[in-house]
Amino acid sequence: MDKRHSADAVMASWAAAVYGDEDPVLGGIRARQAAAGLPEIQVGPLDGVHLEVIARAIAATRVVEIGTLGGYSGVRLLRGMPGGTLYTFEASPSHAEVARQSFAAAGFAERARIFVGPALSRLPEIEGEGPFDLVFIDADKVAYPAYLEWAEAHLRPGGVVLGDNAFLFGRLGEADPGDDPAVTAMRRFNERLARGGSFRATMLPTGEGLAVGVKVR
Ligand code: SAH
Ligand code: DHB
Ligand code: MG
Repeated sequence: MDKRHSADAVMASWAAAVYGDEDPVLGGIRARQAAAGLPEIQVGPLDGVHLEVIARAIAATRVVEIGTLGGYSGVRLLRGMPGGTLYTFEASPSHAEVARQSFAAAGFAERARIFVGPALSRLPEIEGEGPFDLVFIDADKVAYPAYLEWAEAHLRPGGVVLGDNAFLFGRLGEADPGDDPAVTAMRRFNERLARGGSFRATMLPTGEGLAVGVKVR
């Protein structure tokens, strides 16, 4: 690792230690997920704070989350929202059940609506309640381009799309990442967000890569 990269890594850890806070409610959600045998793939503390701060910055009240898991990122988003509803989509009924408990424990039982099933088949049910302020994409990586297309169609002007794991676990930076469907999809997602014309976009280069786009047309 060259000097520049190791300085980046040191400062990234420093930033996570200073800004990446987590209170007992969020710690309890992680514990509930672990006890239920869910994979430990919720956003990290720093990306969690990013979600809250971005939702707060745009005063988001209609937020869509694709990939609920046990509700950790959903609670982060809800904490940034001055009011309104989180519409969150989860394919796995057992994950959704854990999330239901997490939203209740965090005091958000009335403000989180969980849709169980493949997101692309259930998203149409909420289209009449849009346009939305924020869409957070964090489910199956091959479908990121389709989720981005949905966000383009259903965000308000000035609305924000966020994509977790936009570095695809470091694979997009490899010399030869291969051409499996997740690599192709995540490349397409980033290219469309950066240059597709609908968004002004950037990347928060945390370990996972949190892509951020504001809908401009
Ligand atoms: N956003 C969560 C983590 C999500 S992990 C957090 O940070 O706390 C990804 C989730 O997406 C898993 O729970 C998985 O079951 C779900 N998922 C995978 N494919 C899906 C699909 N097609 N539709 C909806 N959810 C899906
Ligand atoms: C995985 C999925 C995620 O959304 C994530 O943030 C980390 C890991 C996974 O499927 O392995
Ligand atoms: Mg993720």
